[in-house]
Amino acid sequence: MNTAIEKNRGFASDNYAGAHSEIIEAIQNVNHAHDGAYGNDQNTQSAKELFKHHFGANTEAYFVYNGTAANVLGLQSITNSFDSIICAETAHINVDECGAPERFTGCKLITVHSPNGKITIDTIKPHIYGFGDPHHSQPRVISITQPTELGTLYTEDEIKTLSNYAHENNMYLHLDGARLSNAAASFNKNFKEITFDLGVDVLSFGGTKNGLMFGEAIVFRDKSLTTNFDYIRKQGMQLASKMRFISAQFEALLSNDLWIKNARHANKMARILSEEVSKMEEVKITQNVEANGVFAIIPEHSILDLQDKYSFYVWDEQSLEVRWMCSFDTTEEDVRNFVSLLKKSLKDN
Ligand SMILES: Cc1ncc(COP(=O)(O)O)c(C=O)c1O
Repeated sequence: MNTAIEKNRGFASDNYAGAHSEIIEAIQNVNHAHDGAYGNDQNTQSAKELFKHHFGANTEAYFVYNGTAANVLGLQSITNSFDSIICAETAHINVDECGAPERFTGCKLITVHSPNGKITIDTIKPHIYGFGDPHHSQPRVISITQPTELGTLYTEDEIKTLSNYAHENNMYLHLDGARLSNAAASFNKNFKEITFDLGVDVLSFGGTKNGLMFGEAIVFRDKSLTTNFDYIRKQGMQLASKMRFISAQFEALLSNDLWIKNARHANKMARILSEEVSKMEEVKITQNVEANGVFAIIPEHSILDLQDKYSFYVWDEQSLEVRWMCSFDTTEEDVRNFVSLLKKSLKDN
């Protein structure tokens, strides 16, 4: 990656962005005197209350440093090592966590084909068997990502159907919400309505991709699922000693409407980008643009031309499908300049 790319705001990922200025301010504001360690501080108590406000009075939130930890520890809290977790083949827990879910939960991950990032009852049904058979991993969790890794959204009905199915089979529904704010912004609904009201049992809530410097939360539907979680988090090396620096960021994100402003903006940038590029004959949008990511197939020479100036990932080397992610600090000018460069590249070749 050359310096020109590093200085540009690109479209590689929403975690290539910096932290929002209000988040930096919140960190600075708690950087005085001393306060209790390991979450025994005022900011952590008030951030936990804010999560109850957004997700429901009976829910319980715990803070960790990153999204992989949120997923792994959330899953660990609802499984035994002889269980299995069913997820999409495209799930972050399957392809982007270096096997951490398998290593730390001990569970077997069972993946199902998910061309649009989503799993359905039909795709998971063949794997739900063997209950009570000691030769077989015990199906325990269905894990979904909302929005999916492909920028699509499960409808509320789809989530409800999956949670009903999970519960009928004595299983849990886990949700990776690394970008849950983008989903809420797209639906124009609150967090409770799009998660626990639909039967989700435990979820990862992303802060980093929506403007935090670092920090994610694990949110449980109620206290009954949290019995051993304090030990699980500490043994999992994610009990932050200066937790107030994570908590203060969540306070800033969730106490006013910063979370939705940031998410709405990122979604809007992706919408504009997809509308503009879909006017070009040589560009094929491959997924519905429902949050802040755009997936498209473009000619190889244009990938190279664009990557000379902007960072982004080639999602599939075979089909030349690329992923363009927008973030809270992507500007409309960034999008227009990117689109102009693509137009020029297509015309010149
Ligand atoms: C869907 C999804 N889940 C979880 C994560 C969290 O990853 P990390 O451990 O890098 O914070 C990411 C980040 O890319 C993600 O895209």
